[in-house]
Amino acid sequence: MQIYLIGFMGSGKSFTGYRLAQHLNRQFLDLDHCIENKAGQTVRSLFEEKGEVYFRELEQRTLHATAAEPPSVISCGGGTPCFFDNMDWMNEHGLTIYLKTPEAILFDRLKRGRELRPLIRSKNDTELRAYISRTLASRTAYYEQASIIFHKETGQEDAAAELAHQFKNIIGH
Ligand code: S3P
Repeated sequence: MQIYLIGFMGSGKSFTGYRLAQHLNRQFLDLDHCIENKAGQTVRSLFEEKGEVYFRELEQRTLHATAAEPPSVISCGGGTPCFFDNMDWMNEHGLTIYLKTPEAILFDRLKRGRELRPLIRSKNDTELRAYISRTLASRTAYYEQASIIFHKETGQEDAAAELAHQFKNIIGH
């Protein structure tokens, strides 16, 4: 069974996902990196040169390809669950985990990590704060369809260990 980690940009999906994979002795995949490998281009340049519609189609194809991978922990992009039927598809093909992170923490992290993220890189602080509030509000309905909703507060170093424990209970090992 695949594990799909979802959540807003800056919620720590890659960091937690990598460590969760270590705990479970699984392969770790970052969906954005898989897309970049497939396209031979960065996510940022895909958005800039080909546009978001192209990116979302490639993202969906790349997501579907994960079904053929050995059991893995897959860290998705912040928008992955919110396009096409991706959320239903992930729930059918694996266990979905939503890393629910307070808005203030997202803002602090994204303020510093704007450059590589095409959707926010040209925003100033006020615009960024408003974007996070607005987009989180519209995406929450998708994120909350996850099988596990994990409240990720700052400094929660043991999030991966806790999730590994929950996963083992679910699959009965
Ligand atoms: C996006 C999030 C990004 C990346 C792309 C679009 C989004 O991934 O897929 O820039 O729509 O929220 P991260 O959540 O890993 O930053």
